[in-house]
Amino acid sequence: MKKILVIHGPNLNLLGTREPKVYGKLTLEGINNSLESLAKKQKIGLAIRQSNIEGEIVNLIQKAKGKFDGILINPAAYTHTSVAIRDALAAVEIPTVEVHISNIHTREEFRQKSLISPVAKGTIMGFGDKSYLLGLQALMDII
Ligand code: DQA
Repeated sequence: MKKILVIHGPNLNLLGTREPKVYGKLTLEGINNSLESLAKKQKIGLAIRQSNIEGEIVNLIQKAKGKFDGILINPAAYTHTSVAIRDALAAVEIPTVEVHISNIHTREEFRQKSLISPVAKGTIMGFGDKSYLLGLQALMDII
């Protein structure tokens, strides 16, 4: 059975109450439940983690080598700042799909650059919580 690691970055644990006009009302648990059911239908194993700490995300990515066939990541604010997360993804060479709830290109200038996109197979953004499902489907299709 193929396995995918889902990583949610900082502040995504607050989904549901965090800026609902931007991020919607669905909680992280709700998103995780829909990811689990899509993966189950396609007989893919999922491990889901959330961390507010950059180094913990780097550790998760490093430990994924040899254990996971794909990574689905919403690096959240670290998208725009983290050379360390980008380098970890480049190092493990696990096919990665980057997702964002909002369309970062329509937002503040500081959000418009992703350091992660160049090391991802592709990026899906702007479809609300559906970005995750679209991203998972794309990743399952390529692994
Ligand atoms: C986000 C966009 C980021 O700019 C922001 O820092 C987040 C969430 C998104 O999913 O739209 O925390 O990654």
